[in-house]
Amino acid sequence: MRTQVGIIGSGPSGLLLARLLHLQGIDTVILESRSREYVEGRIRAGVIEQGMADLLREAKTGERMDREGLVHRGINIAFDGRLERIDFPKHTSGKVVMVYGQTEITHDLMKAHIDEAGGIVHYETPAIRVEDYDTDHPRIIYDRSGEQKELICDFVAGCDGYHGVARKSIPADKITNFERTYPFGWLGILSDVPPVKEELIYANHERGFALCSMRSHTRSRYYIQCKLDDKVENWTDDAFWDELRHRLPPEEAENVTTGPRLEMSITPLHSFIAEPLRFGRLFLAGDAGHIVPPTGAKGLNLAASDIYYLSRALIASCQEKRTDLLDRYSDAALRRVWKATRFSWWYTSLLHKYDDDVMSRRMQISELDYLTGSAAGRTVISENYVGLPYEAFE
Ligand code: APR
Ligand code: PHB
Repeated sequence: MRTQVGIIGSGPSGLLLARLLHLQGIDTVILESRSREYVEGRIRAGVIEQGMADLLREAKTGERMDREGLVHRGINIAFDGRLERIDFPKHTSGKVVMVYGQTEITHDLMKAHIDEAGGIVHYETPAIRVEDYDTDHPRIIYDRSGEQKELICDFVAGCDGYHGVARKSIPADKITNFERTYPFGWLGILSDVPPVKEELIYANHERGFALCSMRSHTRSRYYIQCKLDDKVENWTDDAFWDELRHRLPPEEAENVTTGPRLEMSITPLHSFIAEPLRFGRLFLAGDAGHIVPPTGAKGLNLAASDIYYLSRALIASCQEKRTDLLDRYSDAALRRVWKATRFSWWYTSLLHKYDDDVMSRRMQISELDYLTGSAAGRTVISENYVGLPYEAFE
């Protein structure tokens, strides 16, 4: 098989890249190890920065998002029995975020790229490794019903997530990994109940962090900080709802509508960055190159900003034989990745319980008191939460 851009992985990164390249007449082939149903059914986050929303509109897949997505002009932070609202447009000259599930985005991209435009995606076709990425014709070796085959490309995009093979195809001495783990996880529930509040609530509490989010006006997503070795089977729905209410200010606790779980799962928290993101004609994007804890809702949005830079670099190369943007891709993408990784780590440190040290707890409370009590503090949170601007890249 032969194509211009071979893409490993049909998550949001791979699909969005294929879509943007297709609109510029550039051929792609996506190899995905799982089935379409599995990929489409995965439950993931759903807070979209302005930059990503604009990129989905540029990809002509933003219509349903704009129709069904919830525009949020702020978030709430709960601590010390109080609730403070952060007004985004006021502190970012008008910027907002959109609440629209990653599952919906994946669905919209598949519909546009595969069903309507006939884009090529081979499901249940795991890539095994990438070879010759330091030549003009990198190859993806993949498995097709037990037989090894190769896809010859001009470029390869590794959009295969943290556990993928693209990054693993790079010799260890050519790549630098930065990693941070956290001594806790998130226990999350999805339930068809109305959300406790119109906007998200991030709660700092002596019993641990809690987050009140939603997918729509009738479907809610809640998380509570849990021990890393905790198990979903340890939690009945009632136990989850009781613990959640413990961690919210009294009025909000009163207003929580409870219901049966549609899904419950535990997510570990992790910060990871690989440098660089380019190796000859192999480019890493999204979770294949970096992971952030979900606290700042940056995972999906960083995948999109990588694709903003990578799509422009590949289009300039395929259409005008330019190499300057290819050369600048890794640095430009990583500059934004590091800032979002720092924000996600800082926001996590501010809102989670690390230990029983009362001094650290009082310091957290006073930092939250300062931040929510000053325009400068609210601006810092707002600017990072709505998403730092993309650099001009043409
Ligand atoms: N061959 C083919 N496909 C693979 C392989 C492989 N060897 N390994 C992994 N994949 C596929 C996975 O099955 C998955 O569908 O690559 C895809 C990677 O998708 P994501 O993990 O969603 O990564 P990305 O597209 O970068 O999106 C990042 O997803 O996980 C969330 O929080 C994350 O929101 C962020 C977003
Ligand atoms: C979610 O809706 O799942 C969600 C929202 C905000 C976050 C993390 C997850 O920070």
